[in-house]
Amino acid sequence: MAREFRKVGVVGLGTMGAGIAEVLASHGVEVVAIDLSDEALARGRTQVRNSTDRAVARGKLTADDRAAIFDRVVFSACLDDVKDADLVIESVPENLDLKREIFAELDRICNAEAILATNTSSLSVTEISAATQRPAQVVGTHFFNPAPVMRSVEVIRTVLTDAEVVADVERLLERLDKISITVGDKAGFIANALLFGYLNQAVAMYESGYATREDIDTAMRVGCGLPMGPLTLLDLIGLDVAHDILEALFNESRVRRHAPVPLLRHMITAGLLGRKTGRGFYTYETPDSSVAVADAHTSTEEQQVAGARRVDQVGVVGADSVAQSVLVTCARAGYPVVLLPYGADTADVVLDAIEEDLDRSVASGRIDELSKKAALQRITVAAGYADLADCDMVIEAVQGSVDDKRAVFAGLDGAVKPGAVFATVTSAVPIIDLAMATSRPADVVGAHFCMPVPGGQLVEIVQTIATAPDVVSTAHAFCRRLGKQAIRCRDRAGFLVQALLFPHLGDAVKMLQARYATVDDIDAAMKYGCGYPMGPFEMLDQNGLDNALAVQTRLYEEYRDPSFAPAPLLEQLVKAGYLGRKSGRGFRDYDD
Ligand code: 3HC
Repeated sequence: MAREFRKVGVVGLGTMGAGIAEVLASHGVEVVAIDLSDEALARGRTQVRNSTDRAVARGKLTADDRAAIFDRVVFSACLDDVKDADLVIESVPENLDLKREIFAELDRICNAEAILATNTSSLSVTEISAATQRPAQVVGTHFFNPAPVMRSVEVIRTVLTDAEVVADVERLLERLDKISITVGDKAGFIANALLFGYLNQAVAMYESGYATREDIDTAMRVGCGLPMGPLTLLDLIGLDVAHDILEALFNESRVRRHAPVPLLRHMITAGLLGRKTGRGFYTYETPDSSVAVADAHTSTEEQQVAGARRVDQVGVVGADSVAQSVLVTCARAGYPVVLLPYGADTADVVLDAIEEDLDRSVASGRIDELSKKAALQRITVAAGYADLADCDMVIEAVQGSVDDKRAVFAGLDGAVKPGAVFATVTSAVPIIDLAMATSRPADVVGAHFCMPVPGGQLVEIVQTIATAPDVVSTAHAFCRRLGKQAIRCRDRAGFLVQALLFPHLGDAVKMLQARYATVDDIDAAMKYGCGYPMGPFEMLDQNGLDNALAVQTRLYEEYRDPSFAPAPLLEQLVKAGYLGRKSGRGFRDYDD
């Protein structure tokens, strides 16, 4: 007989506990919400009130429904009040002794059939369960922040948990409209084990001055479609919570990727815990607010383009789809563009492809016929480097080896006027290798247009050790005129987006290889627990496993950090020709 969950206790009304209480009550479950002090109870009640107020304001909930939610919750400072609950979910701070003490108490207070669950994100559910006489009725129910919004919950079964108990909890979660993902008891479970290595790497980048906090966040939001950038997410989660999770991960994995970056500890010591204290990586209007305000680290758009050189005419060298897209983007933004075709394709082939691309834009209503004609008229074809002599900005977008690209840069160096900016769209070779093929490395900058160029909004502006500041400003102002979001980073393998994304996806492959979870469960955990637009394996299949392997190999070769080494499973799949969507088979099969 499946258990009925009429009444559920929630112990600990911090952000997660209050959110869990709200989820339960809004799905018709009676809740006994426990915390130690009147102050803590009031804070929990305020959180539920704010959240339900917002839902009422957005028309998602009626005032009557909200009243019913509050009618279902009894707030109490007395743990004994959970005695007739069918399930108790503990959500107190991440302290093993405290949790074990509470579980021992709950074991004594609750009736023999009750299930005891912990929302721990970093401690062992098995160790917690050992504080009770009923380890078979102890599970983890790991909710994600904000609990009312995120769709999945990880259910943790220990080696002692009864299969029926797991099934009953899964059924309850279904009733709460949550997708349950059931896994074994391992540090970080699925989502945190994958998420926190990536978040920690973002902190390391920020700490080293690799990029600004805004650029790191924009890179992952705009470049990868994630709902939040990593530093904003850390502020939401709380830096103290993040630190505990990283410690737990490191204690189990012993990999450097999980060793908390020192900056985290310093910020915690200084009381910068994130949104809850009003300051973390960003400064917020008030404690608990989600609205970030400008502070001493905020730079204005004007500062970013200060000293930019004037760009009136653009040159593009190349012929393939990237070159075509850059060309169209520049022409549509109003720049006269000189095309120097490179490789086997003639100018006619390139121009035909561009016209087709513009026709598609007209057909889909993105531009009109007049704009198409004007864009085409802005493009002229060069016969050689000399025809690019008057360009203020020349973009190299050739398909070829480093030597091919260096030859292009040497050609430009000999022909183009002094003061012009040379940009390269490459993401596969260090920009400095290309800059040193010219006599003016200070004028060379990377401009990595994230794909697809016309649709993709992000350009990574890559500054080498030699790039002049006004050249970076010029590239920034230029990208802004193209309607792109520009971020800046250093000339290191993977720049910003790929350097953060691919090791993160690589961790998912390592988790699969270790047989901890399936492709579907890993994808679901990240999509529904963290709001990713696609799961890690969907992203890998989409991006190409060979590309992922190449980026991870470059990162590993550059940093020699074993955490960046690609998983043998990824190497084997690539060797077998399983490259993802483009080959019809990757982590999944495709027939389209
Ligand atoms: N409580 C309740 N509801 C909230 C909320 C909160 N704290 N924050 C946002 N919402 C609701 C809004 O009311 C809105 O609801 P509606 O669509 O029904 O009108 C919806 O969420 C979207 O909110 P906004 O439009 O204000 O803001 P965004 O579109 O920027 O979404 C977000 C906010 C849902 C938090 C989104 O940015 C997101 O998904 N971020 C990723 C969060 C994430 O990764 N969580 C997991 C962290 S790891 C973790 O929790 C594990 C732990 O162990 C550390």
